[in-house]
Amino acid sequence: MKKYLLLFISIFIGLAFVACTNETTTTTTTISESTTTTTTTTLSTTTKKTFKTDTAVVNYEGSYCDDMTVNYEFIDDLLSSLTLDEKIGQMIQAERNGLSATDAAYYNLGSILSGGGSAPSVNAPNNWYLMYKNYQDGMRTSSSGIPVIYGVDAVHGHNNVLNATIFPHNIGLGAANDSELMTKIGLVTAREVRVTGLNYTFAPTVAVVQDIGWGRTYESLSENTDIVVDLSSAYIEGLQSYCVGASAKHFIADGGTDEGDDQGNALLTEEEIRAIHLDPYISAIDSGIYTIMVSYSSINGQKMHGSSYWITDVLKEELGFDGYVISDYDAIKQLPGDYYTQIVSAVNAGVDMLMEPYTWRDTIANLKLAVQNEDISIERINDAVRRILIIKYKMGLFHDDFYNEETGEYYRISYDDNFATYENRAVAREAVRKSLVLLKNDNNALPLNKKTNVAVIGNGASSIGLQTGGWTISWQGDDDSKLTRGTSIIGGIRQVAAGNGANVFTDAEDADVVIVVLSERPYAEMYGDNLNPTLTGSTADSGNADALEQAMIAKSLGKTVIGLLLSGRPMLINQQLQYFDAFVACWLPGSEAGMGIADVIYGDYNFTGKLPVTWPKYASALGMNSNSSNYNESLILFPFGYGLSYEED
Ligand code: BGC
Repeated sequence: MKKYLLLFISIFIGLAFVACTNETTTTTTTISESTTTTTTTTLSTTTKKTFKTDTAVVNYEGSYCDDMTVNYEFIDDLLSSLTLDEKIGQMIQAERNGLSATDAAYYNLGSILSGGGSAPSVNAPNNWYLMYKNYQDGMRTSSSGIPVIYGVDAVHGHNNVLNATIFPHNIGLGAANDSELMTKIGLVTAREVRVTGLNYTFAPTVAVVQDIGWGRTYESLSENTDIVVDLSSAYIEGLQSYCVGASAKHFIADGGTDEGDDQGNALLTEEEIRAIHLDPYISAIDSGIYTIMVSYSSINGQKMHGSSYWITDVLKEELGFDGYVISDYDAIKQLPGDYYTQIVSAVNAGVDMLMEPYTWRDTIANLKLAVQNEDISIERINDAVRRILIIKYKMGLFHDDFYNEETGEYYRISYDDNFATYENRAVAREAVRKSLVLLKNDNNALPLNKKTNVAVIGNGASSIGLQTGGWTISWQGDDDSKLTRGTSIIGGIRQVAAGNGANVFTDAEDADVVIVVLSERPYAEMYGDNLNPTLTGSTADSGNADALEQAMIAKSLGKTVIGLLLSGRPMLINQQLQYFDAFVACWLPGSEAGMGIADVIYGDYNFTGKLPVTWPKYASALGMNSNSSNYNESLILFPFGYGLSYEED
């Protein structure tokens, strides 16, 4: 019996829903994927130091979840109609890889995820939608009839989907520090997610990174709590305006582990945790965040997934979080004891949905046993499922336009007006411009004269993979030069040069101005920790050594040498900075790096980015930042907040 569908008919009919906008009816739109959006624009010929002020126009209309007021009577009736098996199914999130729609329906699964890089075999938006539709069709045949939530890590755009708009990673957005821009990015990301039908992203990361040795530094907006608060709440508002559920992560103090150890241990007092790491969750809750993800990390030896103090007492009771708490990927397996004990500990600590990608059948069996043994109370199960159903309601899954009986389609928005459009890419390009931090600019080496011949060298100059970093198409990212659609750095420079009769060379010998692009190799969680992030060290791109040598030679020949650094964090550049007249931290700027960087280095726009994290001079200062009581200026190359602009030269 399809309980949800019966309830839908008996309770929903006659309820006054907010009138849907045109976009809710676009589910029948023919999906065309032949569009090739280019970022070609007429480049301004304005003189140096005259800056454009226009920003991309983003249409905020079209959300079908505005005023999606929850009907609690509906939720309670639905909950009370569910069997224990159906309830337990709702608490599970399983990985799509190998998961049949029949199994998802048989077990009434609450949610499905695509982990990093887990994509349909032909990675195109319409195939993502068809995959999603297949699961939703399955759920319509399930005993409860409850639709599934589909989650992805859309952490810098819809980054698992080939040719999506890829925004700068969070560290660059922290440098831009523009909350209006963050709302636009959230909105654009939600639209691209909705083109594929999906309704949930594991973002934003609200970690307040304290040690740039941490491999997830680039997922953090800043070492400064206020910046993280402002930017993440603005982003959540943009994202959820399309009822794409956000997930603030990773609760709590993931950015505060000892020596920046990924999944490590935060050796902090409660006072210190509250002072630095709690506020982003308070503001996320104020912004109406739907879900919060627990951290793999520990606080003073206690794994967060087992902490009823932080999850239940603080997050749910003290802060009043009424969405659902989700565990991280396989994370409960890091709790002490056997699998049964781990599940009992996590659920009793307050975890509502269990991201157990491949072992979910065992999770279901153990959860059921734990309820039968009274190790987990039915009240706890009911609380978890009620939270999940409320979020499903907010995401629009019980909305009368979620499923179109006539066409058999689920709510989504049209490809043509919403996926990687010029407007979407213009927002990303604006984000690139604003994220760049000018660290050095001797003798006004920048801005460049558009008529000057330049040489552009270094692997990062022509690699979409290096400019997009981890969590792009695959989990760890890839240095593939053609990883996904985008404009490379040399591509952006070529466009400006071509319009001004200048030449662009790839050999430093051929020009008097040499642009040297240095890079970190792509990495993501578990593979990016580095306590000595030098330009030739373990996370550096292998081409850096050669590029640095060429920079040194060019400098000795009296050429103007410009350094552009693609990296997920500050790197130890103290010894090499002398070879550069100008040096720019570009972070991981994403698909629109080429045009965004050209906009600024040629002077059409000014540099406005400021360092969101302290830039150490030596490896020994890695954990030192503007919050540190032992802050020692002499160990710091550039302080938090540093960043030059053309006017100041
Ligand atoms: C990461 C999360 C991510 C999840 C799902 C985990 O390994 O820690 O940030 O959301 O995987 O991909």
